[in-house]
Amino acid sequence: MSGPNRMTRRDFIKITTGAIGGVIAAGIGLPAIGYLLAPALRQDKAGKPVIVAKLAEIPVGKPYPFSFTVTRVNGWERTANVFGGFVIRLSEDPQDVRILSSRCTHLSCRVNWSDEAQGFICPCHDALFDRDGKVVSGPPPEALGHFDYEIDDQGNVVILPVERKTE
Ligand code: FES
Repeated sequence: MSGPNRMTRRDFIKITTGAIGGVIAAGIGLPAIGYLLAPALRQDKAGKPVIVAKLAEIPVGKPYPFSFTVTRVNGWERTANVFGGFVIRLSEDPQDVRILSSRCTHLSCRVNWSDEAQGFICPCHDALFDRDGKVVSGPPPEALGHFDYEIDDQGNVVILPVERKTE
């Protein structure tokens, strides 16, 4: 009894073996593909707020230095960015605070506070910025950048690691 549409034993074995092989390949292959793609699908961790100081420990008028590193994961690429700056309390009012970046706007060297000059000095090309971050002398084309901040319930100064241009 053999018709044109009748499946032979050989065909049946071929189809069954192929189906079982497909199931096994999917069982092994899908987790492997997931493992390989996971870094690309992972969320970038940049932009989280960072605690840089306790407000109560910062004297009024004296710039308080801080620095931290943010590691960004973009797919398989991992980059570390160092942020630095100064918390400046302008008065006893907890909201009267300025957060300046320590990155010089000329060629990105780090500036330091000088009590003697009452300003920020860039050691790379002898630039001077005043207490507000404005250029007093030297080659920098613009004022020091700043960070947005808030004071949390525990009195911590919390900033967003995004440097903003100061107008
Ligand atoms: S890098 Fe600061 S003055 Fe040149």
